[in-house]
Amino acid sequence: MQIGMIGLGRMGGNMSVRLIQHGHEVVAYDRDPEAVQRLAKDGAKPAESLEDLVRQLKPPRGVWMMVPAGDPVDATISTLLPTMERGDTFIDGGNSKWTDTRRRADELQAKGFNLIDCGTSGGIWGLTVGYSMMIGGPKEAVRQFDPIFSALAPEGGYGHVGEAGSGHFTKMVHNGIEYGLMEAYGEGLEILKQSKFYDLDLVQICGIWNHGSVVRSWLLELAESALRRDPNLDALRGFVQDSGEGRWTVEAAIDEDVPAPIITESLFRRFSSRQTDAFSNKVLAALRNEFGGHPVETSEGTLSKPVSAPGGGGE
Ligand SMILES: NC(=O)c1ccc[n+]([C@@H]2O[C@H](COP(=O)([O-])OP(=O)(O)OC[C@H]3O[C@@H](n4cnc5c(N)ncnc54)[C@H](OP(=O)(O)O)[C@@H]3O)[C@@H](O)[C@H]2O)c1
Repeated sequence: MQIGMIGLGRMGGNMSVRLIQHGHEVVAYDRDPEAVQRLAKDGAKPAESLEDLVRQLKPPRGVWMMVPAGDPVDATISTLLPTMERGDTFIDGGNSKWTDTRRRADELQAKGFNLIDCGTSGGIWGLTVGYSMMIGGPKEAVRQFDPIFSALAPEGGYGHVGEAGSGHFTKMVHNGIEYGLMEAYGEGLEILKQSKFYDLDLVQICGIWNHGSVVRSWLLELAESALRRDPNLDALRGFVQDSGEGRWTVEAAIDEDVPAPIITESLFRRFSSRQTDAFSNKVLAALRNEFGGHPVETSEGTLSKPVSAPGGGGE
């Protein structure tokens, strides 16, 4: 089957290769011409522009967008639209916010186009292992591209979960869960590392847990291999980014009155990881010093006297 692939980064590039390996024809475009040429060596048909990509596809067309969420998706759709025809399908495989997807689906449907939202998980390992795919959108269009989904996914690893937006909504919650799991592994491994048992081998322990334990998982296998390469993770700073799905999961929990303390706390821990000397902690130190004369750390050293008011008591 023929498909256009837009955005040949970590995901779109590997997904194209997997599709080619399964006998599909991939017409590939990226704003970086070198990425297009690299993929052409793997058997993709290179496109010089989005218009050229559409020209090379036979109707009814399918164009798979694998670009960052937000403006890049809107910009890609509006550039493609004038050259596409009614009945063509846009597939958004990135981590778009589900409310954006609902809006885009309505706008496209009014013009005679389909939008499929395909929440995609698998990272850089998906090329060999396959991608887990949560698919939302019109049933007929999803059925049309079944050969593409089945080539990308491992057996049993994809499905049509519901109407427009439901694929991205499901992927968003999936990523929220991922935040919580990762946080728990991080905390547990740190408790082991700081413990009195100074010679605990974290690689060995992850290995033991990965064989038969109730906490075994692919994330834990990844922790094991990262720790094997760098046992103290010396090469890294503890600075953790987020790309939105955790925030949106917390928003959805609030909208539905669902208590989600683990996912919420995991998101906030990521925010904390980016602070070197949080203002909130300075406020705490200042207040303890103000009311109780408790010592504070200053840039000149420890200051134990109250800053202003005399007296004061305990906490
Ligand atoms: N990486 C993962 O593990 C993972 C897993 C599941 C889903 N996703 C989602 O999949 C999507 C792609 O992720 P990725 O990891 O493949 O990202 P990536 O490696 O950064 O690749 C993104 C691609 O989109 C292109 N791009 C960026 N901004 C663009 C714009 N304004 N217009 C057109 N193209 C643009 C990039 O081109 P340049 O190189 O020129 O910037 C690049 O080719 C994202 O929505 C991401 O959240 C990622």
